[in-house]
Amino acid sequence: MAELKDTTREGADTAPATGGNPPATEAAEPPVPTVIAEDLHIVYRVQGGRQKGNAAAALRRILRREPSGRVREVHAVRGVSFIAHRGEAIGLIGSNGSGKSTLLRAIAGLLPAERGRVYTNGQPSLLGVNAALMNDLTGERNVILGGLAMGMSREEIRERYDEIVEFSGINDKGDFITLPMRTYSSGMQARLRFSIAAAKQHDVLMIDEALATGDKKFQKRSEARIRELRATAGTVFLVSHNNRTIEKTCDRVIWLEKGELVMDGPTEPVLKAYAEENAR
Ligand SMILES: Nc1ncnc2c1ncn2[C@@H]1O[C@H](COP(=O)(O)OP(=O)(O)OP(=O)(O)O)[C@@H](O)[C@H]1O
Ligand SMILES: [Mg+2]
Repeated sequence: MAELKDTTREGADTAPATGGNPPATEAAEPPVPTVIAEDLHIVYRVQGGRQKGNAAAALRRILRREPSGRVREVHAVRGVSFIAHRGEAIGLIGSNGSGKSTLLRAIAGLLPAERGRVYTNGQPSLLGVNAALMNDLTGERNVILGGLAMGMSREEIRERYDEIVEFSGINDKGDFITLPMRTYSSGMQARLRFSIAAAKQHDVLMIDEALATGDKKFQKRSEARIRELRATAGTVFLVSHNNRTIEKTCDRVIWLEKGELVMDGPTEPVLKAYAEENAR
């Protein structure tokens, strides 16, 4: 097994604590941990929130380009701990602003931990609805760009190109793949992003709401692809506000609220508790 890497701090020398939930499915071999979060805290610091004082003073500050001098803190993830294993698909649920996207960004190594650690085994890839594709480039160029950004070689991209385009269904209604991304509907853009990300075998694939904008047919296809990705080794994290998508793709669910972990367990009981809480 490759050594677990600390994505939140360089040069970590302490070993992670073991324990946590075994995967829901019975495996012949012992479960391989892929992501370990240990009492993880993430704090955003926002420069210059609104200050008390009169409008004239504020205007003067803006005109003089003086910094407002105030830093506001948003404590977005508060002491979250879990262990994810190879072969698991984990749904992340919780109300808006509960810290789901923040948690994924921290696992991807894009945000530093205020306290606690994240260890990952393998390279995590975050597929968000805002994943870095270029609106002025054609779909075709974006497939290449996205592939390179994920660490695929040009050769690999060439091999998978037709498959990616076909899976996205972008060309179903005409030759859209040779048009700039900005001419695509938001659903079409999301489909292309998902197709590019799904073409690669990921150690840890994190999908943030990417399925939400696709139509029914594409949702079905991407759910099947997630199950496949999961079956061929990797770990999948899926953020979705659609419980049915979570039900169909995940065997485990982590529920966050106000940055704290409320529940972590098999899909059905967690979704049930979440639904009960929201019915109140
Ligand atoms: N770049 C940022 N700077 C400052 N605060 C942020 C930033 N991004 C998110 N936050 C704050 O962190 C908290 C968690 O946000 P996050 O985006 O992780 O929630 P979420 O669970 O993904 O919500 P949603 O379901 O709406 O996508 C919120 O209070 C949000 O306002
Ligand atoms: Mg989010």
